[in-house]
Amino acid sequence: MLNRRTFVQSAVKTATIAATTRLNPLIAQSSPPSSKSPNDVIQFALIGAGIQGQGDTRTALQVPGVKLVAVADCYDGRLAHCKELWGSDLFTTRDYREILARIPAGRWGQPSDIGGAAVFLAASASDYVNGAIIPVDGGWMAR
Ligand SMILES: NC(=O)c1ccc[n+]([C@@H]2O[C@H](COP(=O)([O-])OP(=O)(O)OC[C@H]3O[C@@H](n4cnc5c(N)ncnc54)[C@H](O)[C@@H]3O)[C@@H](O)[C@H]2O)c1
Repeated sequence: MLNRRTFVQSAVKTATIAATTRLNPLIAQSSPPSSKSPNDVIQFALIGAGIQGQGDTRTALQVPGVKLVAVADCYDGRLAHCKELWGSDLFTTRDYREILARIPAGRWGQPSDIGGAAVFLAASASDYVNGAIIPVDGGWMAR
């Protein structure tokens, strides 16, 4: 019977076989590029691009799938420097509320916001839910 445990076990086996298969360069060349859902990227904004904020951002960006999308700071020089560091397409503003205004929920996400979805996916209540993506983003993806 396929339950969550056997599903995860078979997924791990499949992933292991796929990873082993990629060792063969000929097969790797013929593999289609993997598509990435927008949900595979964690986007964040920096409010206050000072010493601590820039250091934290540098650390966060070392994690694959993490992207800085906006920066707010009171000083134009800091905003210009952030564009030099992280790309000219970065949204910058002197008023952090301009970033907040893009989130339909009207507030920043908290760790506890992720908790509800995690509990649901770990509980038997979601036993028949497979392969679904649950955005926990204050309505950002639904705009
Ligand atoms: N520097 C450190 O080693 C260190 C270590 C741990 C914690 N902290 C803490 O981190 C925080 C920031 O420290 P820092 O050294 O980066 O300070 P900083 O003065 O270099 O940077 C703070 C930045 O926040 C900006 N800012 C302030 N209010 C803002 C607002 N409403 N909207 C947008 N931008 C705003 C300022 O313009 C400034 O550029 C402080 O609370 C500090 O105590 C700092």
